[in-house]
Amino acid sequence: MQPENTRTLTSMTWNQSMIIRHDPERQIDLDLVRCTENAALCAWKWFGKGDKNKADYAAADSMRGMFQLVDVKGYVAIGEGRKDDAPGIFTGEKMGTWSDHAIPLAIAVDPIDGTTLTGKGLPGAISVIAAASCKTPDDDATKLFPSIPSYYMEKIAFGPTVREGPGKIKIDAPIDENLDVIAFKLKKRVRDVVAVVLDRPRHQHIIEGLRRAGCGIRLISDGDVAAAIAPCLPESGVDLYLGIGGSPEAVIASAAIKCLGGEMYSRMWPRDEEELTRLTTEEGVTEDDLKQVWTVDEMAKGDHVIFAATGISDSPMLQGIKHRGRHCITQSILVRARNRTVRIIDAFHDMDNKTVRLGSSGEEVRI
Ligand code: FBP
Repeated sequence: MQPENTRTLTSMTWNQSMIIRHDPERQIDLDLVRCTENAALCAWKWFGKGDKNKADYAAADSMRGMFQLVDVKGYVAIGEGRKDDAPGIFTGEKMGTWSDHAIPLAIAVDPIDGTTLTGKGLPGAISVIAAASCKTPDDDATKLFPSIPSYYMEKIAFGPTVREGPGKIKIDAPIDENLDVIAFKLKKRVRDVVAVVLDRPRHQHIIEGLRRAGCGIRLISDGDVAAAIAPCLPESGVDLYLGIGGSPEAVIASAAIKCLGGEMYSRMWPRDEEELTRLTTEEGVTEDDLKQVWTVDEMAKGDHVIFAATGISDSPMLQGIKHRGRHCITQSILVRARNRTVRIIDAFHDMDNKTVRLGSSGEEVRI
């Protein structure tokens, strides 16, 4: 049976209000930045304190609290909880005011990508939201982000310059061939290309292949959302992301990459026989599904896609939180698919006056 919120989302909003907005994202995009800012600030309280669950809970609680004020009918299509039992915002949750005229919105969220990094006080942690709204009354917002049943996906991500023109990156091409395409398009030598890879034993062959080809590798211990988006940002110093990471993270990163004009190919990667059996017997996954290579347009459907993120600690994508006197400085990025404007937002939060709303109590509290 469909959950209540999925059943009502499409018909209710559009049929009742019949408001067709030209650009629904404009009404809510800065609110999404407030959500990731608050989550990052609350996570920061636990930065380097050795308790990733407290950091995750604090970030999720503040994000849920801020969302209570955002005038959307939000359906969490991609939430936490699929990979582990961490606290968070979960798939199927309703977020927003759900007022009569609110905008129907599919949400893909990770209050902290890099909870372990946050607990250990390491670079690379960010707070992220991707959201997609409907174009016409017949669209179903719950379908705008796909539900990927595997825990992990293979991913290869690159920026707009590599995506454009002849010469294509292929998920199954030998590493050297893909590196040649990237080097040619970026007008640099292969040895000057920089790839980011999660430092995992499962990536040994990728790391060896990249090293044999002579390119530079930045190994990261966690946080592949920022890593996958980085090749789209000219200042990141990263040209390519590849490897196997979480499926929810693949959807969120795809939304951002789509907004930035880049590409990521993703494919389900069952981690063992047990998962493969679960996917094929319980989830109805076919051989063709397992072979499917998802593009960013398939992972984040339509033109009305927004992505917002705030740095918790420094990453190739965003600066982490800094303190100056009584101010706490956050850096965020806000992009949307339709016009591809990229906003980098530095916010100076006066901590003597700053409050955040918590979802758990509905109260505004000092942090
Ligand atoms: P956190 O759960 O600590 O936030 O880690 C997230 C992450 O590093 C993702 O960025 C990545 O996609 C995934 O975990 C990799 O999974 P695994 O750690 O199991 O290899």
